[in-house]
Amino acid sequence: MSTIPEEKGLDHSYHLLQEGFPFIQNRVEKFNSNIFKTRVMLQNVVCLHGEEGAKVFYDFDKFMRFGAIPGRIQKSLMGENAIQTMDGDAHRHRKAMFMSLMTPHSLHSLNRLLLDQWQAFSQKWEQLEEVVLFEESQELLCRVACAWTGVPVNESEVRYWAQDFTAMVDAFGAVGPRHWRGRRARRRTEKWVEQVVKDIRKGKIIVSNQSPAHVIAFHRDLEDELLDPRMAAIELINLLRPMVAIAWYITFGAVALHEHPVARQKIAEGEENYLEWFVQEVRRYYPFGPFLGNRVKNDFSWGGHDFQKGTLVLLDMYGALHDPQIWEHPDQFYPYRFRDWKGSAYDFIPQGGGDHFTGHRCAGEWVTIEAMKVSMLYLSKYLEYDVPPQDLSFSLHRMPTYPKSKFIMRQVRGRQ
Ligand code: HEM
Repeated sequence: MSTIPEEKGLDHSYHLLQEGFPFIQNRVEKFNSNIFKTRVMLQNVVCLHGEEGAKVFYDFDKFMRFGAIPGRIQKSLMGENAIQTMDGDAHRHRKAMFMSLMTPHSLHSLNRLLLDQWQAFSQKWEQLEEVVLFEESQELLCRVACAWTGVPVNESEVRYWAQDFTAMVDAFGAVGPRHWRGRRARRRTEKWVEQVVKDIRKGKIIVSNQSPAHVIAFHRDLEDELLDPRMAAIELINLLRPMVAIAWYITFGAVALHEHPVARQKIAEGEENYLEWFVQEVRRYYPFGPFLGNRVKNDFSWGGHDFQKGTLVLLDMYGALHDPQIWEHPDQFYPYRFRDWKGSAYDFIPQGGGDHFTGHRCAGEWVTIEAMKVSMLYLSKYLEYDVPPQDLSFSLHRMPTYPKSKFIMRQVRGRQ
């Protein structure tokens, strides 16, 4: 039985590519329903929107990740058979390893590394006529990511690895050359990091026992076996690549600082909690992930629909962050909205919803927030720069998206 709206037509993959981020939201509005059926990638799909839908989506008695993530995304963005595709005890065991790396102590050392790199980069920028922040922050973050995880990297190669990690992220919503660039980047980095894992195991590379590279290299699965070196490399890249991806948020954050000079001033003056609200608002307002996928594990009924085993279900992420039912005036950039925000795990989901430890919610959400806080503070309090006329708009059709000019700064100088 099903009483939910159904979009007619053979397949709507073309519309998904055309409409981009608001694909689900457009239909939620058209059907006036938080649940509807459509067809994408030549299969029946149920789309969910809203907090109640998110709660169901993260119920792992009802859903599984197995078979939910297309091969082309695994081959470019996240690596094949990695944590994102796992279920049940095996997932919880692997996730515990990831979350063991996110202690206050390790976030503190991340903070130090970020500050050091911001200082080094700003000194370099002072000598340059022009700086493209999106590209520079990729390299800055790549240096931080390698140092934080314990992956040694040659000075002459950092820029190339930063470009490869960026290419993998940039591939996720692409067909054609952008997708293939991501695949080639993944092949190269997996080969490099696999060798690092092998060398750590052999003692040829010495890293601290607590470093993420060491923890992953010597992690044992539920059968008490070390991970295959390629698998360990894929999981280590699952730290490195998304850390470089924070460059997207840094660039959007710089646009927000530029367009809201009062916010920049409040951050520089250290208004209590404002930096945190600003960072949350950047993660809400600017688009990154459009939706998430799950497959139905066991038949169940919910919201007027009988979900059948194996059906692909998509959860709207972008739309949830711009839903007027949840956010007043969602199309305004307004950090103070987070002053009164109660913090539901299912209504604010830029990096997934639910629980970090037991579910699939992003393992690096605290790392992202920390990196953004340091970066927004540094740009506001310690740097002055001119922002020449440029195109700071971004497309909602391209996934992922970024400001078209990539945020150009001129005359960067330290703030007195
Ligand atoms: C998972 C977004 C940064 C590591 C995810 C998910 C999203 C996401 C949407 C999937 C959530 C789900 O399936 O429910 C982002 C965004 C980031 C970011 C937008 C910032 C630009 C990071 C960082 C790290 C990280 C910095 C590591 C240091 C992971 C891992 C998973 C994950 C390991 C898999 C979790 C699992 O399957 O249990 N991320 N992420 N991410 N993220 Fe992030």
